[in-house]
Amino acid sequence: MIVDQYARPLRNLRLSVTDRCNLRCSYCMPEQDYVWLPKDDILHFEEIERVVGLFTSLGVDKVRLTGGEPLLRRDLPALVSRLAAMSAIRDLALTTNGVLLESQAKALLDAGLHRITVSLDTLRRDRFQALTRSDELLRVLGGISAAAPLFPGLKIDSVIIRGVNDDELLDLVAFARGHEAEVRFIEYMDVGGATAWSMDQVVSRDEMLARLSAHHGTIEAIAEDASAPARRYRLPDGTIIGIIASTTAPFCEDCDRSRLTADGTWYSCLYGARGVDVRGPLRAGATSEMLETLLRTTWEARRDRGAEERLAADRRTPLIPIDTLRRDPHLEMHTRGG
Ligand code: GTP
Ligand code: 5AD
Ligand code: SF4
Repeated sequence: MIVDQYARPLRNLRLSVTDRCNLRCSYCMPEQDYVWLPKDDILHFEEIERVVGLFTSLGVDKVRLTGGEPLLRRDLPALVSRLAAMSAIRDLALTTNGVLLESQAKALLDAGLHRITVSLDTLRRDRFQALTRSDELLRVLGGISAAAPLFPGLKIDSVIIRGVNDDELLDLVAFARGHEAEVRFIEYMDVGGATAWSMDQVVSRDEMLARLSAHHGTIEAIAEDASAPARRYRLPDGTIIGIIASTTAPFCEDCDRSRLTADGTWYSCLYGARGVDVRGPLRAGATSEMLETLLRTTWEARRDRGAEERLAADRRTPLIPIDTLRRDPHLEMHTRGG
């Protein structure tokens, strides 16, 4: 196992399998046009498998497949099978927007996927359309209904934005409970790509808890693994919910996560300005030892505390201007895998 400059181990890899997405959520992809990663640069399954093998030898035992929208990647279950066969991975999960989930849930389960998180921010069709620029709410709901019985403990992630969906907290709690799923409310973050972000649209964890307890009564915090982004709470009726307070209460201190983009660029922080090119040496024939050294030395030098640095900034505005994003799509949240 290796650790970084703040003694944080490398345990959790978020693996983006495509930068494409079939939705345009306002907090992630608000622009009209995007620059996509070149097709030839996208790692093949054999390449992904090799790189993940190197990561597991350095201590990674949790892998989450992300996008863009990962279910847009052709034959995704075939990749899941390859990863599920790696005994070092004790947790293999997927984050999806759910649009294509209904038809793929069973194949993903059969391929050996352990867990699924579906992003869903509203239960109202008109709002969903405004928020995602797409009339796909019914398909997402169908995806959740199909996946929830197959993947017990399914999670539903909702980014809460003031004036957009902050009046749906209670409805989302009830919806998740009805599917025996766990809802997690996420504070709106000023990540790359969130060009419409402003602090006044952020609903803090404290405010969410106050609103929930005004209706439900006393809410009890549950002791949790420190490296997990979500804090979990129990409502008086036993329902468990999570809140991810990345904006007002960052958890950089315990962050054991890194991200590999679909073209093999490795980021050690969601907010990181520069990644390490893994694809280049991989395709140039580097030995496993050379690649492992690259990953190890990068992690051992890591000092990232991106979300904490954002919190310390006096005036918070969107992280990266649009012209800069156009020059380098790697700076986009949808390229980095949410
Ligand atoms: P579990 O293993 O189920 O706990 O998954 P997770 O919470 O790591 O994964 P998920 O994809 O559900 O992440 C939820 C959300 O947390 C993301 O979509 C982001 O909004 C936020 N998040 C995830 N990783 C980071 C991170 O490294 N830094 C910050 N600030 N936020 C993150
Ligand atoms: N703030 C918070 N979460 C975001 N995501 C994307 N952009 C943002 C943002 N600006 C996360 C959401 C979504 C996942 C795919 O990425 O959790 O569900
Ligand atoms: Fe929405 Fe996820 Fe697509 Fe971003 S990557 S636009 S959050 S569905």
